[in-house]
Amino acid sequence: MKEFRGKVAVITGGAGGFGRAMAERCAREGMKIALADVDAAALASTAAELKAAGAAVVAVHTDVSNGNDVERLAQATLEAFGGVHLVINNAGVSPLGVVWENTAADWQWALGVNLWGVIHGVRVFTPIMLVQGAEGHIVNTASVAGLISPPGMGVYNVTKHAVVALTETLHHDLARRGAKLKCSVLCPAYVPTGIADSERNRPAALMNDGRVKSAEQLALESNLRKAVNSGRLSAADIAQAVFEAVREERFYILTHPKINSAIRARMEDILAGHNPTDPLG
Ligand SMILES: NC(=O)c1ccc[n+]([C@@H]2O[C@H](COP(=O)([O-])OP(=O)(O)OC[C@H]3O[C@@H](n4cnc5c(N)ncnc54)[C@H](O)[C@@H]3O)[C@@H](O)[C@H]2O)c1
Repeated sequence: MKEFRGKVAVITGGAGGFGRAMAERCAREGMKIALADVDAAALASTAAELKAAGAAVVAVHTDVSNGNDVERLAQATLEAFGGVHLVINNAGVSPLGVVWENTAADWQWALGVNLWGVIHGVRVFTPIMLVQGAEGHIVNTASVAGLISPPGMGVYNVTKHAVVALTETLHHDLARRGAKLKCSVLCPAYVPTGIADSERNRPAALMNDGRVKSAEQLALESNLRKAVNSGRLSAADIAQAVFEAVREERFYILTHPKINSAIRARMEDILAGHNPTDPLG
């Protein structure tokens, strides 16, 4: 997609972190924005700020793990703006823990948001964009944790590897159709956002009620917070990388070159039949 002005962007998880930075970038590019988030208060304030800056915004309260919500998001976007050109499936959460201690609720929550959210986004928006027949782009937010498997975050890793696999396949399926619609997968490392506090959005039905956190769990949470807060790139830098990739129709969006050695080590371990190298080792 070369031209952004006047085009329509849908952004999930648009009320915070990367999503909000991408929405601000869309506004600066002169795009119309359908902003989706489960956090009603943050959604309302982000939408109000974007509108105050002159952007055309429709805010749609959406839980991306719920297919009906994502279908309503598509309807609301079409009703407001008559089309959709850029879809950024970005909402995500980050439970931690050694993998055998994660509860069924942890799995259900993270798979619901990080994977089903992207599945619904692809399932609902791709047919609409194909029928339009115009240039368009889908960006799915994975993580470097979709390319390597850091310890202590197995649930997250599973969701993000799945998003990479889903998006690579989407790329092939679109190419075989000769579609003008393209896609990319975003794989950043740590960036200061609200991701270390994603428990704030965990639904009541999926709480780990009465569970006492182990010292190991608390250490994982404190390490994640430190790593996220010490990230050198900003959410705006990530939005910049996304727009460059969309403009260049580049599939893989890797924003942290320092991680490449860990990705390479994983690929080489696989090809050489070695046991996995600890990417944080
Ligand atoms: N920040 C990082 O270091 C980092 C690194 C790699 C990948 N990511 C990924 O980037 C994406 C954005 O996260 P972020 O870092 O901006 O975190 P964030 O917590 O600041 O923003 C996430 C947004 O998603 C929303 N959200 C949560 N559950 C939702 C649901 N069920 N439906 C709709 N919206 C929901 C939140 O309300 C929030 O506005 C996530 O997919 C995350 O996994 C983040």
